[in-house]
Amino acid sequence: MSEFIAEPRRFGRHAQRTVLVTGASGVVGQALLKRLRDVNVVCLVHRSPVVAPNVTVLRGDITQERFGLSDAAYAQLAHSVDAVIHCAAVTDFNRTDGTLETTNIAGTQRIVEFTAAANAVLYHVSTAFVHTTVDGERGRTAIGYASSKSAGEAVVRSGNVPHVILRPSVVIGESDSGEITAFQGLHQVAAGIFAGIVPMIPFDPAWPIDFVPCDLVADAIACVVENGITEGEFWISAGDRALRLDDGVAICVELARELGVTVDMPRFVPPELFDRLIGPVFLDALPTRIRRSVVGMLEFFTTYLQSGHTKPSSLDELAALGVGSLPDQRDSLRASLRYWAQAKGYGETEPAKVA
Ligand SMILES: NC(=O)c1ccc[n+]([C@@H]2O[C@H](COP(=O)([O-])OP(=O)(O)OC[C@H]3O[C@@H](n4cnc5c(N)ncnc54)[C@H](OP(=O)(O)O)[C@@H]3O)[C@@H](O)[C@H]2O)c1
Repeated sequence: MSEFIAEPRRFGRHAQRTVLVTGASGVVGQALLKRLRDVNVVCLVHRSPVVAPNVTVLRGDITQERFGLSDAAYAQLAHSVDAVIHCAAVTDFNRTDGTLETTNIAGTQRIVEFTAAANAVLYHVSTAFVHTTVDGERGRTAIGYASSKSAGEAVVRSGNVPHVILRPSVVIGESDSGEITAFQGLHQVAAGIFAGIVPMIPFDPAWPIDFVPCDLVADAIACVVENGITEGEFWISAGDRALRLDDGVAICVELARELGVTVDMPRFVPPELFDRLIGPVFLDALPTRIRRSVVGMLEFFTTYLQSGHTKPSSLDELAALGVGSLPDQRDSLRASLRYWAQAKGYGETEPAKVA
């Protein structure tokens, strides 16, 4: 493995702090790189390239001993780094190949060891769904991600390094433009609604759907680092300002219609009724590929959006550190869905691409 893929800046303990960012190519990492200022940034890059001005890029894998670096490169990195912002993770909910565990738990253990060697502070990006559990059969396949993030937090807490835990809820695109590095869970649900394969939603329409724009998440993480906070836990979530599920679905349907896509408003049906009577018949009648997609969406909703519980939120506390306020939830959801829809070709004169 080649170690430096860009000319390394001379690391050193100077007035300006040096921050190691893992997961810089991801949704949160990319937003963070746009926001970080007044620090030297070193990105530990795995497979996907990271191109950003004023950052040093170092190729490494958190599942490997010393991230796969030579002893000398690892020691040099540890000598230079004052803080680690750990965003790297496997975020695919349904992985069953062991990579959720090797990356999100064992990889976090290596990050803790590195933080100790660097005598640095660890800013660990966890998730607001860290306490999620499943009740019954539905949601079981998607719980692996939440469980691995929960175990990752435990590793950090027992690691004996100064640390801060940051828990974003579902991350959507930038508040104004909707721009995002990759389309994840919520966009996939929108894809299902646009494609007309979600005639009913077996959940309570009043459940809150907690999401936050990626620029706000980046601002929160950066402010915590810039303020030199070295302990505590922060929920980067809408909390009691989260939209209701039916409001979110209505925004998606309105946008589809505005873009010329004919969709019916999905009907909300009680979960027990769906599981007992409707689900088996409805799901069995679907072609395999669509059934897989619908089941995936059900799993996502069941595990991550259900429960009716409002998430805790630290946005007021974060505002005192200089973090911007939560933009209007409807506007940011609209911006995010519009960005996705445009990327997928909806609203163009040509026929739109499905999903
Ligand atoms: N997005 C959300 O809605 C959301 C919500 C709450 C919390 N979070 C948390 O926020 C963090 C960032 O999430 P994200 O959505 O930005 O993730 P993402 O877009 O899936 O990106 C994951 C990042 O981790 C890197 N990575 C994966 N395996 C690695 C390894 N073995 N060594 C080094 N780097 C590795 C990936 O690099 P390669 O692509 O090169 O492998 C990528 O940069 C995660 O901890 C996630 O749990 C995300």
